[in-house]
Amino acid sequence: MANTILIGAQWGDEGKGKIIDVLTANADVIVRSQGGNNAGHTVIHRSKKYILHLIPSGILRRGKVCVIGNGVVVDPIALVAEIEGLRKVGVKIDKNLLLSDCAHLVLPYHRLLDEQRELRKGRAKIGTTKRGIGPAYGDKAGRTGLRVSDLMQPLLFSKKLQAKIIENNSILQALGARPVNFREVNESYLAAGEKLRPFVANTVLYLHRALERGREILFEGAQGTFLDIDHGTYPYVTSSNTTAGGACTGTGVPPHRMDRVLGVMKAYTTRVGEGPLPTEDRGLAEMLHKLGREFGATTGRPRRCGWFDAVATRYAAMINGIDELAITNLDGLDNVDPILICVAYCLNGKRLAVPPCDATQLANCEPIYQQVRGWNQSTHLARKFSQLPLAARNYVKYVSELTGATLSMVSVGPGRTQTIVL
Ligand code: GDP
Ligand code: IMO
Ligand code: MG
Repeated sequence: MANTILIGAQWGDEGKGKIIDVLTANADVIVRSQGGNNAGHTVIHRSKKYILHLIPSGILRRGKVCVIGNGVVVDPIALVAEIEGLRKVGVKIDKNLLLSDCAHLVLPYHRLLDEQRELRKGRAKIGTTKRGIGPAYGDKAGRTGLRVSDLMQPLLFSKKLQAKIIENNSILQALGARPVNFREVNESYLAAGEKLRPFVANTVLYLHRALERGREILFEGAQGTFLDIDHGTYPYVTSSNTTAGGACTGTGVPPHRMDRVLGVMKAYTTRVGEGPLPTEDRGLAEMLHKLGREFGATTGRPRRCGWFDAVATRYAAMINGIDELAITNLDGLDNVDPILICVAYCLNGKRLAVPPCDATQLANCEPIYQQVRGWNQSTHLARKFSQLPLAARNYVKYVSELTGATLSMVSVGPGRTQTIVL
């Protein structure tokens, strides 16, 4: 395997965790480069289900090093809880986890501001995960954030924290929210900082040394292309670059060291939170929810569901430079017939082949569908491409063709073995 950037080609929850787990067999280092604990990546390991939020999905396999890169925003309390939760169920975490000293911290006032901003937006809310991600990245861009390196210097941290709390409490009070208590936050964050100290490192240096030694690195994307702060359905996006470029800036590994980009997409479309979703279909959502599928891994919210949107995925292939595709959840369509595929949008009587930049315009786009035959049988047991029903093979080939990338994996269930490698 080569150094691989794995990204979500839709609106998040494409099954990145599962595919990362499959690819981890051949990788040495797995690194997260953006996002925070808004992510929820599901991995089934030895018949047990794990949901990873901040820790890369490679942590479940022995002998792999997991890195939380500089571009991630880290809530230290949540990270300590995740480490302790995994240790409790027997996952070894010591020298196999590294945390960048340059990563920015998520603080309690970020979570409260996230909540207040959403409340004040009313019906225009983004539907965030309320993990404080937007305000934390806001402070980073505004050059007023606190970083892991600050937390490693208790006196300096307390001083900076006090100033930040004074500033943010006046904002919170103006918004009618309760202020945060400096002493409580200071104590709990310093205590979490001590627990994290053994993991803190210059991860840029670590990754470059790993590259020099010929180690193979897997860059684990979080969220998806259309939640990207630049390329997504702004303002209904997250606050980081979820697209391939984010893997470079968020880790300090330059573009020419990247060998391939693998795009993960579902055989249909889902979105959790607000914002335009042109192919949304209530009937499809109801059917999937009745099967117990498509509930958010982080917040438990039911995901909105829709038909496969080739306009979106083709654009995602372009932005990310997707070389290869992994199509997941093919089995979600096992009993759907006919199946619709969106091949273009219609906006004010004009046919569009790319999504418009403006979220309202995108919401007004009418999908132009092509209808294909379903296969009306279970695909769960297929382990080779030839074992898939003909209509299923035709479906994945067609959506890959429309997306404009080479199909390399098809997933027919959440388990590691339910994966067809082409
Ligand atoms: P991520 O955020 O991209 O890692 O995706 P999530 O873990 O949030 O959501 C994907 C969901 O689909 C999880 O419940 C996975 O266990 C599940 N999953 C992934 N691939 C497949 C598949 O091919 N079939 C089925 N039935 N479930 C899958
Ligand atoms: P993974 O990595 C799906 C969505 C939220 C909301 C918007 C902004 O599991 O694919 P935020 O809390 O980031 O400010 O919320 O982004 N969102 C996700 N949707 N999967 C995710 O992560 C998401 N992370 C954030 O629902 O619409
Ligand atoms: Mg998820």
